[in-house]
Amino acid sequence: MTILASDKAPAHVDPERVTDIDIYAPEGLAEDYHTAWARLQADNPEIVWTPRNEGHWIALGGEALAEVQADWERFSSRVIVLPKSIGEQHGLLPTTIDPPVHRPYRKLLNDNLKPAAVRGLKDSIREVAADLIDAFAARGHCDFTEEYAKIFPIRIFLALVGVPQSDAEKIRHWALCMTRPDQDMTFEEAKAAFYEYVDPLVRERFANPGDDMISNMLHSDMGGRQLTHDEALSLVTQLLIAGVDTVVNFLGYALLALAADPQLRRDMETHPGGTIAAVNELFRRFGLVAIAREVREDITFRGVTMKAGDMVAIPTVVHGIDPSANEDPMKIDLQRRRAAHSTFGSGPHMCPGQELARAEVAITIEEWLKRIPDFRISSDSDLENVGGIVASVKRLCLEWDV
Ligand code: HEM
Repeated sequence: MTILASDKAPAHVDPERVTDIDIYAPEGLAEDYHTAWARLQADNPEIVWTPRNEGHWIALGGEALAEVQADWERFSSRVIVLPKSIGEQHGLLPTTIDPPVHRPYRKLLNDNLKPAAVRGLKDSIREVAADLIDAFAARGHCDFTEEYAKIFPIRIFLALVGVPQSDAEKIRHWALCMTRPDQDMTFEEAKAAFYEYVDPLVRERFANPGDDMISNMLHSDMGGRQLTHDEALSLVTQLLIAGVDTVVNFLGYALLALAADPQLRRDMETHPGGTIAAVNELFRRFGLVAIAREVREDITFRGVTMKAGDMVAIPTVVHGIDPSANEDPMKIDLQRRRAAHSTFGSGPHMCPGQELARAEVAITIEEWLKRIPDFRISSDSDLENVGGIVASVKRLCLEWDV
């Protein structure tokens, strides 16, 4: 770890806590995102400062991270993307507002994504998974990233919100530009493109509601009123971004782990709680979203002096892989009694899409193992890990005997 001269940090930052960590490109990222963070966590205090990305704190300890995420009274969601000057343009509902204003928006999401709503989707999720896998199962190999991961969750999600499948590619592209630094559109341009796309869709659903999730949200009661047009643009854009890249990228990590470990495949199939219970351990092990919070007022947090306006990065990965939260955390252990993690966040903004995400991953694994019980990583893969708000493996190709 390089300790930088303290003059690179503001005066209130303890020089002992100054590090050199780029949260979007931690050292060792290319080989493995999770090992890179585990190393940083082992080598540093639980809260550090980095001058990268305009300078900010990082919660590296699992408990510290969960506390920052849950404590909205001290850590605001006004800005959740780093660097702060970019994050200030984010301004999407409901991610960048705090309780109590956050609550009615959140209720709209919860009502539409609650377990009962997801239960009703399981058959169609299974159908999509089976269709996609059947298309290549007899071939003995596939480009999992291109032929499955990038298609499956988007197909399900676009059907849920009533958006044509033919728009999947452009939606994914804009979402990528808003979650990764190295794309061909700036954050602002991608957000403008989203708004332009969502605007007619929202107008139409206000006038002629269908039975999709967007129509439901637009026509729901929010304490005596409905969403305004501007609020709807923001909420729908956020939903499209949040529901697209997360599951795509997570599936890459999940199938990579299964391809590398025959025993894990068998344990998945025979887990007493079923696949849906078993996948929680994969979510614990493979956290992948890195966001942030803004300090509201001058505080001392776990012995660290922070000033109003300081940013604190919360790379959710660090909770599940923290040895003080989970014993032998890099090991995938389906028998683990309690898998502590923040992969879906914690506190008021905890992911409302987690039931859907769990169902998508569990059903993928079930349908996959039914057809392809044994498989391996093929040499066509490019397993380089890529950073960003949502981390990923570049290209996972799999092969099996037919
Ligand atoms: C592997 C899959 C997923 C992961 C790892 C994930 C992770 C997260 C995390 C960490 C947050 C908290 C953000 C914060 O604290 O600021 C979040 C929020 C959110 N997620 Fe997910 N998510 C996933 C899938 C989904 C899906 C499938 C949907 C939509 C159907 C979704 C919709 C949302 C929304 C709308 C929010 C904002 C909630 C709020 O601000 O109150 N997510 N997600």
